[in-house]
Amino acid sequence: MSDTTQSTSLVAQIFSYAGIALSYFNALPIAQRVSIIVLAPFVYHIVWQLLYSLRKDRTPLVFSWIPWVGSAIPYGTQPYVFFEKCNKQYGDIFSFLLLGKIMTVYLGPKGHEFIFNAKLAEVSAEAAYSHLTTPVFGKGVIYDVPNNRLMDQKKFVKGALTKEAFKTYVPLFVEEIVKYLKTSPNFKVNEHDSGKINVMVTQPEMTIFTASRTLLGKEMREKLDTDFAYLYNDLDRGFTPLNFVFPNIPSATNKRRDHAQKTISNTYLELIKKRRSENDIQDRDLIDELMKNSTYKDGTKMTDQEIANLLIGVLMGGQHTSAATSAWTLLHLAERPDVQEELYQEQVKVLDNFNRELSYDALEEMPLLNQTLKEVLRLHHPLHSLFRKVIKDMQVPNTSYVVPKDNYVLVSPGYTHLQEKYFPQPHTLNIHRWDNDSQSSYSVGEEIDYGFGSISKGVSSPYLPFGGGRHRCIGEHYAYCQLLTIFSVFIRHFKFRYEKPNGTVPISDFTSMVTLPTGPAYIIWEKRIPGEQL
Ligand code: HEM
Ligand SMILES: *[C@@H]1O[C@H](CO)[C@@H](O)[C@H](O)[C@H]1NC(C)=O
Ligand SMILES: *[C@@H]1O[C@H](CO)[C@@H](O)[C@H](O)[C@H]1NC(C)=O
Ligand SMILES: *[C@@H]1O[C@H](CO)[C@@H](O)[C@H](O)[C@H]1NC(C)=O
Ligand SMILES: *[C@@H]1O[C@H](CO)[C@@H](O)[C@H](O)[C@H]1NC(C)=O
Ligand SMILES: *[C@@H]1O[C@H](CO)[C@@H](O)[C@H](O)[C@H]1NC(C)=O
Repeated sequence: MSDTTQSTSLVAQIFSYAGIALSYFNALPIAQRVSIIVLAPFVYHIVWQLLYSLRKDRTPLVFSWIPWVGSAIPYGTQPYVFFEKCNKQYGDIFSFLLLGKIMTVYLGPKGHEFIFNAKLAEVSAEAAYSHLTTPVFGKGVIYDVPNNRLMDQKKFVKGALTKEAFKTYVPLFVEEIVKYLKTSPNFKVNEHDSGKINVMVTQPEMTIFTASRTLLGKEMREKLDTDFAYLYNDLDRGFTPLNFVFPNIPSATNKRRDHAQKTISNTYLELIKKRRSENDIQDRDLIDELMKNSTYKDGTKMTDQEIANLLIGVLMGGQHTSAATSAWTLLHLAERPDVQEELYQEQVKVLDNFNRELSYDALEEMPLLNQTLKEVLRLHHPLHSLFRKVIKDMQVPNTSYVVPKDNYVLVSPGYTHLQEKYFPQPHTLNIHRWDNDSQSSYSVGEEIDYGFGSISKGVSSPYLPFGGGRHRCIGEHYAYCQLLTIFSVFIRHFKFRYEKPNGTVPISDFTSMVTLPTGPAYIIWEKRIPGEQL
């Protein structure tokens, strides 16, 4: 008997039993009828799973008891534990039910290739992400446009993320960092020799100040010292995984999100109009760049409103990922005085006993600091799952499986980053594992250009903190530049430790947009030279 006839006859059987069942049902007392109605979805759910698992053209399905909800709890709280368990039981490819959606996971380097390099006709990122991102970023940008528009928008943004631009950003980063260290209540470094900081407060603040100063310019950075800053918090609260499922419930949070989106984008819009009317377009920041260069390949120009929305999208894309990386890096350093000492010696050497000014060129001469960030990104991929919606049936190479249209595919480089097979002692911070391999992951081997510059064609590397394929991150070098500058300043002036003598790096909280340390995450900073003035 073939698989299809097997399942067809099963369906026929179920239908004939259903007729008999219905006549029994009507004869039952009310209490029993109610309990059957309550149980029906559960029975349906179990029968559905049984039928699904009989199909040889479907991937193994992770069994769950609760209809619609499926495996939301184990996946949502401990995704890597969940993946590990499924990996052992089913192998690299399996599916699970998540809030009414079937998610097909393909773990490991082959999964990276299958999903990041899937054909444009087979998968859609916008169909997976737009519910979440469009209310926050606004219309006409990122996932609210067809893919060819997104590719053009990424190209426009990259114009402000060049080496020449970074050379001008580094001194601005330093200025912002020093200002923060002098004025933030948790530091006030010119008044104290040590203090206690919650890295979940300080690092997001340092990230937004440095990013705003360089990408949006002086005017928008100054706005952050006013009540305007609260609007970013309101927008942020609208950027939560819950909105994947319910993007537009009329909650107070969503109303504040919508108000913040309008107000912030209008403020950017006014600045754009002001610069245009004063003919004040230079090479300062991303705003200047987009004012000069935002005409799509077909000749259509982005509107000023769309430019304003794109600015929000880019800032948001970089904020949480960089802030999380910054926080995790500090927490690891606090645990590892040996690494702090090595990095300090590198600073002494490269900056010639601090007779040399910090610059982009100097950052390029700091492989150990670079490898520290690289290793932290391995241990703490900010995005534990990346999704696409399947829009055309996909054959899984070398298997009998077809991932059907309307499923979602899920790729998790963060899981691969923690496999012993690829990274010996995967849970240990070892900055020297990259000693012979510290070059950019941007393009290795054969290259391809989806419209925003050449990137690596193959995406089967086990290490992909910035994704791969047409949706690959464009912020890698900017993020490195920003984080290297922050940590060059930190390492040079301070030592970090936990309050308790045996304090350790906190465990991960996987329930927010990016994987964060479970807070509050306090550490102690201490000046290397007591009394030193910044
Ligand atoms: C440590 C910092 C960062 C990490 C780990 C990171 C990671 C990622 C990843 C994994 C993706 C791929 C998403 C997917 O395939 O679904 C991505 C895309 C992207 N990132 Fe980043 N990112 C970082 C910083 C930034 C920064 C600073 C910017 C902007 C300046 C930025 C802008 C973008 C953009 C525009 C995309 C493209 C989205 C698409 O094409 O669908 N990222 N990033
Ligand atoms: C726009 O930016 C792209 C990529 O950075 C560049 O190749 C192109 O020459 C720029 N066009 C203009 C008009 O500046
Ligand atoms: C499929 O199998 C062929 C032959 O064994 C192999 O060369 C190829 O890498 C496999 N592809 C995938 C995606 O596993
Ligand atoms: C890097 O390469 C050198 C020379 O080939 C070798 O001695 C060293 O063990 C390598 N380091 C690592 C971490 O693989
Ligand atoms: C640091 O490492 C990254 C990734 O390995 C690389 O792309 C970058 O060029 C390195 N240096 C600087 C200064 O960013
Ligand atoms: C480590 O911390 C625990 C609890 O915080 C404490 O009971 C223990 O004495 C500490 N050990 C050392 C060596 O400090």
